[in-house]
Amino acid sequence: MKILVTGGAGFIGNHLVRMLLREGADQVVVLDALTYAGSLSNLSDCMEDSRCVFVHADVTDGHRVTDLLKTYAFDVVYHLAAETHVDRSIASGRDFVHTNVVGTFTLLEAIRTERPSARMVHVSTDEVYGALAVGDLPFTEHSPLRPSSPYAASKAAADMLVHAHVTTYGLDVVVTRCCNNYGPMQYPEKFIPLMVKQALAGQPLPVYGDGQQRREWIHVTDHCKALIAVAGKGKTGDVYNIGTGHEEVNIDVVERIVQLTQASPSLITMVQDRPAHDVRYALDTGKLRSTCGWTPVVEFNAGLADCVTWFVENNERTRVVH
Ligand SMILES: NC(=O)c1ccc[n+]([C@@H]2O[C@H](COP(=O)([O-])OP(=O)(O)OC[C@H]3O[C@@H](n4cnc5c(N)ncnc54)[C@H](O)[C@@H]3O)[C@@H](O)[C@H]2O)c1
Repeated sequence: MKILVTGGAGFIGNHLVRMLLREGADQVVVLDALTYAGSLSNLSDCMEDSRCVFVHADVTDGHRVTDLLKTYAFDVVYHLAAETHVDRSIASGRDFVHTNVVGTFTLLEAIRTERPSARMVHVSTDEVYGALAVGDLPFTEHSPLRPSSPYAASKAAADMLVHAHVTTYGLDVVVTRCCNNYGPMQYPEKFIPLMVKQALAGQPLPVYGDGQQRREWIHVTDHCKALIAVAGKGKTGDVYNIGTGHEEVNIDVVERIVQLTQASPSLITMVQDRPAHDVRYALDTGKLRSTCGWTPVVEFNAGLADCVTWFVENNERTRVVH
């Protein structure tokens, strides 16, 4: 099987590339622009495998993407390339619209013209559904899209383009919407690695608002296994929520990180809340479990402890670019 992974030098992408190689892919081509969030060092072990090819390109570059699809007769395309940080999207959403919307359109068009038989897995997010109140039932795949941030809106727009390309041109695309990921190699602007880095440096741990926001967490390897399961068994045009059912209140996660890093609890600092901060996300994942035979295996507390250990051991390697 020949596989393209866009955004494969990012957090989730590098774990997916490693898993695909381990599972016996004939070829895995990574297309990545290496923005501040991507790094070839994430893929250093994968690049030692002759089946793995890295292409430094922007997913919005139609010529490069089309050429790539002409050169390799891909069977499966996993689309992860994106601008992903909500706070950056609030500061300026332009790059998010460009990469997440124009980039997805560019990829869809290239597949339509060069490789219409390829299966594409469009990796979206639970944030497209917007906020859920505490006590509400989790989002299903039929819940309306009510994105709160420019990031979430750009992902929802991309989901709509996918739907149009499936409906109009008959492309074979499946969409996944996953909850919050954690694990090694996550860029340290994101919640868990940021808190770990701050704790290790003895710096304040900034917690938005009252810290009572609730998130559903999944280990990145469980997410990647779900993506492979959906690529294999998902139905064309369908959406699959990916989640664990394991919700945590933000401040509780921060307190656990303080314990794991043996930092001082006094470092926890409540800061002004993010505008339009969604109070809760939670997903109904019955469809994925019953139709694709997937179930998560990493328990949150054990996964968090391993993740903190990884960041402790690799603290020098992970730096934030502002
Ligand atoms: N991290 C999460 O919790 C989470 C949850 C649900 C869905 N997702 C989705 O999963 C995907 C991957 O997320 P992540 O956390 O690994 O993100 P990330 O920010 O760690 O990685 C994104 C990668 O995309 C690359 N990229 C950015 N712009 C590009 C462009 N124009 N052309 C080519 N490459 C480009 C970056 O260089 C980077 O390697 C995203 O689509 C995101 O929306 C993430």
